[in-house]
Amino acid sequence: MAKRTAAKTKTRNPKPLTKRKAWKALEAHYKKIRKLHLRSLFADDPKRGERMTAEAAGLFLDYSKNRITSETLKLLIWLAEKSGLRTRIDAMFRGEKINITEKRAVLHVALRAPQGTSIMVDGENVVPQVHAVLDKMTDFSNRVRSGDWKGHTGKRIRNIINIGIGGSDLGPVMAYEALKHYSDRSLNFRFVSNVDSTDFAEAVQDLEPSETLFIVSSKTFTTLETMTNAHTARAWLLNGLIGDESAVAKHFVAVSTNAAEVSKFGIDTANMFGFWDWVGGRYSMDSAIGLSTMLAIGPGNFRSMLDGFHQMDEHFRTAPFESNLPVLMGVLGIWYTDFFGAQTVAILPYEQYLKRFPAYLQQLAMESNGKHVTLDGSEVDYPTGPVYWGEPGTNGQHSFYQLIHQGTRLIPCDFIAFGHALNPMGRHHDMLLANVFAQSEALAFGKTLEQVKAEGTPDWLVPHRVFEGNRPSNTILADRLTPEVLGKLVALYEHIVFTQGTIWQINSFDQWGVELGKVLAQRIIPELESPKEQTLGHDASTNNLIRRYRKLKTQE
Ligand code: F6P
Repeated sequence: MAKRTAAKTKTRNPKPLTKRKAWKALEAHYKKIRKLHLRSLFADDPKRGERMTAEAAGLFLDYSKNRITSETLKLLIWLAEKSGLRTRIDAMFRGEKINITEKRAVLHVALRAPQGTSIMVDGENVVPQVHAVLDKMTDFSNRVRSGDWKGHTGKRIRNIINIGIGGSDLGPVMAYEALKHYSDRSLNFRFVSNVDSTDFAEAVQDLEPSETLFIVSSKTFTTLETMTNAHTARAWLLNGLIGDESAVAKHFVAVSTNAAEVSKFGIDTANMFGFWDWVGGRYSMDSAIGLSTMLAIGPGNFRSMLDGFHQMDEHFRTAPFESNLPVLMGVLGIWYTDFFGAQTVAILPYEQYLKRFPAYLQQLAMESNGKHVTLDGSEVDYPTGPVYWGEPGTNGQHSFYQLIHQGTRLIPCDFIAFGHALNPMGRHHDMLLANVFAQSEALAFGKTLEQVKAEGTPDWLVPHRVFEGNRPSNTILADRLTPEVLGKLVALYEHIVFTQGTIWQINSFDQWGVELGKVLAQRIIPELESPKEQTLGHDASTNNLIRRYRKLKTQE
């Protein structure tokens, strides 16, 4: 990889998106082809199913079941080019401060940059710092996994609890579940995120404090939920170990950018694993925030995951847009969100281990692209980030797929499937894969009135049994779910989000929208806890709810 230094690149987009020629051309094109059915698109082009595919770093993408023609794709790619996507990709990889509202670089790609490469931030190469933290995590993980690191009473650590929320929880949970197959089964992993005390109570109810290690994961180390849970964890530990404060050193480590707060909490900063302000919370699962992942799967597997991320980064950085997986999926998302008016995207992994992947993508996509003003602060006049949701197949088929097939909304779907099961048994995997292929086929082609009638269906039942079809989907196929493949998949979606954020001209890297609720909660806490009723200055509904809760609290 070439040495990259920060240079000033114009990242603002002067021309409003909807005034761009490419946008106008897409509007006109949409009017022409919006009624085209996938049935005729496939009938007119027998090679479509092979032609509209792309492959990179071992991920195969079939995007042929989208409501597009070759012309659509050309126009969408033109839009991406004219939106300065290439320049912005280069700016990100160079370490420019493209997160303009927080004046920060956006360098999750540096977290997986191989040793010996160079990415400069404020005149400093950050890659050696990344590898120093990785080495420290490796040493610590080896000590815990081998039993060398002992608890305060000399017992081996058996339980590891990650305390964190948002990006400091969803990545670790998702990766732990996704890679459980590769994990050390003699260690128990739990994840506490919610400030609801049930989360903590259930996580520790069958655990022995002397065998439990807490990882307090928080970029800021000030997040209400995480700090509340961390204090509760400390009290639980000290209670179990008869109040010996020195036990904290052997049972608590921290992952944070805030050494001062870590030390204030009582964790020795020697047991702190750092990262940097240029790593966004939702882009941090491959930083030290992934310490629980490394403890579970081991340092070798963790590094394979990083390698997977890096392979996808390099593909995104260098491949022509026409064959660039994140760009293709990114522009297809724009096509449905902004032209067809789709409001959601369904993420449908046909791999049980990916059961938390949709939840992980919710934060990645929705915290990133849930924005209503452009980089220069003007209100957008087009829809931005859609709602992400989903469940693993085949469970979803017996629940919400009905609405995707026959409801009134257009819901583009991403199917994710693998050539091999990690726990092969009998015919299960063939059945699983038959279901993925059947679903995307049924969504695209449906069942016509004539077909339903020809089956001898009574007339009154015919309309109920017709499937309109023309429901778009992507299918991603990979060999098997490994740490490396997980890295590729996550990086793929990170860069899809980046592609879309660039076209929408928004800042995908801040999250001011979560601030107001946090501030108001801080104001309400004393109003709930004060022994004397306070004069409340909220709206009538909030005031009333507060009073009612105070009354409920006093009743047994
Ligand atoms: O919810 C807002 C947010 O800032 C997320 O972006 C972040 O992932 C989460 O809170 C947790 O923050 P921290 O790691 O600082 O505790």
